[in-house]
Amino acid sequence: MTRPFFITAAVAATFLLGACSKEEPVAEPPTAPDVADVTPELDPMTGLIMAEDWEIVRAACTPCHSAKLVTQQRGTAEQWLTMIRWMQAKQNLWQFDPITEGRIIAYLATNYPPDAARRRAAIPPALMPPNPYAPTE
Ligand code: HEC
Repeated sequence: MTRPFFITAAVAATFLLGACSKEEPVAEPPTAPDVADVTPELDPMTGLIMAEDWEIVRAACTPCHSAKLVTQQRGTAEQWLTMIRWMQAKQNLWQFDPITEGRIIAYLATNYPPDAARRRAAIPPALMPPNPYAPTE
């Protein structure tokens, strides 16, 4: 005696569904990069961040003073350029050719940018407590 068709179909369906619902490996959620991955490597001699063109900056910016003067400073490209112009005007810093100067500025502004973490954004007025000095009507 042959099995009724519906049983055969049900068994086949069970196998098919079983195959489809096979557990896919769940992708791991992305994790924050290791601290070691984001900590820039520092030159042990000067403390300069060893990013692109750092040797140019070491050559240009350490003959007269410690690199600490550089690494403790922060600024935009414009601010760094202003410091360089000031040293050229007042401290006998020599002229750089434009390409070298561009690289120095890019290195400084990229690796020693204005430190956003030191300043917080202003509190939006809606979140401020009531002003006790506000004129009353
Ligand atoms: C020719 C010598 C000389 C060279 C080269 C030189 N500096 Fe200076 N720099 C000085 C002098 C002098 C001072 C003042 C030091 C002081 O005030 O004690 C100074 C001060 C600084 C300061 C501190 C400014 C401040 O407001 O306190 C920074 C930052 C600085 N230099 C960055 C640089 C950078 C970046 C370079 C490379 C592009 C560089 N220096 C190359 C002579 C030089």
